[in-house]
Amino acid sequence: MLYFIKNQLYVEKVSLGSLGRRFGTPLFIYSKQQLINNYINFDSAFSSVPHLICYAIKANSNFSILKTLAKQGAGIDITSGGELYRALRSGFSPKKIVYAGIGKTSEEIEYALKSNILMFNVESIEELHLINRLGNRYRRKMPIAFRINPHVDAHTHKYITTGKSGSKFGIPYPEALDVYRFASRLKNIDVAGIHCHIGSQLTSVKPFHLSALRLAKIMGSLSKNGIRLRYVDMGGGLGIKYHNEKTQTPKDLSNAVLSVFKDFSGTFIFEPGRYIVGNTGVLLVKVIYRKKADGKNFLIVDGGMNDLIRPTLYEAYHEIIPVGNHNRKKVKLDVVGPICETGDFLGKGRLLPLAEQGEYLAVMGAGAYSMAMSSQYNSRVRAAEVMVDGSNVRVIREREKYQDLTAKEK
Ligand code: LLP
Repeated sequence: MLYFIKNQLYVEKVSLGSLGRRFGTPLFIYSKQQLINNYINFDSAFSSVPHLICYAIKANSNFSILKTLAKQGAGIDITSGGELYRALRSGFSPKKIVYAGIGKTSEEIEYALKSNILMFNVESIEELHLINRLGNRYRRKMPIAFRINPHVDAHTHKYITTGKSGSKFGIPYPEALDVYRFASRLKNIDVAGIHCHIGSQLTSVKPFHLSALRLAKIMGSLSKNGIRLRYVDMGGGLGIKYHNEKTQTPKDLSNAVLSVFKDFSGTFIFEPGRYIVGNTGVLLVKVIYRKKADGKNFLIVDGGMNDLIRPTLYEAYHEIIPVGNHNRKKVKLDVVGPICETGDFLGKGRLLPLAEQGEYLAVMGAGAYSMAMSSQYNSRVRAAEVMVDGSNVRVIREREKYQDLTAKEK
């Protein structure tokens, strides 16, 4: 949904430059049409089987994004009480909510029990006991899946790999049979499914296939023990193109997974986050100063690691494009933010025109894990967010004010 018309970068029918002038920067800009298209693309890849696409809310939890997806019929994958609150308030049916996370507190579990969510993805025996105890109080036999760690390498950044042995996530797969047998004897537990999530930004579907084989094997043993599951939840993780990665499609994922579960007649669940929102968003920033130091060029912009921490935290690459006239002579430069840390950069060693002061740059692929991970570090107010729908633009989160910085302090 992003393209150039006469040397100006547009999102749907609105130029990014005009949005910068109207709403100020740093500014997150989302394309509603791209969001809907991504959801439909993912959903339709699984049309041959009963399935539920549970959007991973942690990727971007803005109300308007959530409402748009809820209207498309999406389910939602949550990981905290706060996410449950957002999911319910934005119109998701509780029967489409799955809840993962290794540290659910008893307050969070009670909130989810009272809300009648579809299923807990349980990550430890102590958590199972707590759900069983609280289920008794609410007279509920609560559906659960165990999150199984299949010991498969997702080949992604070490901070977003979750399925290798030694990880804090899930139940190691050699223990799966025992925990299922144990859970099936608990009064308030309905052993409903099996779950895994091996990591994020996977550029190959092979690790999904290998994980599926492990889960299928467990399910075979369970069925010999009289335990039949209704849900197979393969988590999220499908990667997107930020730079020159060779990515795979939801259809590739579907082929890699469904081929393993030919005899399964229950419901498949997937929890994509990044795939749904990643390429819908742009972070628009403005050049404040240009600077040359020790022979190096810097563009100092008004957005930094508090707005987009991915480059700093994961050495992530986000394409950076001037919103106007990009056919100028290019030089090698670093695009850096105003924060007092050397790690505060949006891009290093980029070939870009030495943009003028006041010029806008678009940081691409900023729909997922960008605003959601933003902070007020250096007492910077959080950016505004707008959603573009054709030629309509709506502010979906106001820019914070200085008063917001101190509002909760005594
Ligand atoms: N399901 C579970 C249980 C998860 O933990 C996650 C992501 C997802 C689904 C969605 O994964 P996705 O489809 O978005 O890859 N902040 C990092 C990514 C952290 C992902 C955490 N879990 C980043 O900016 O790359």
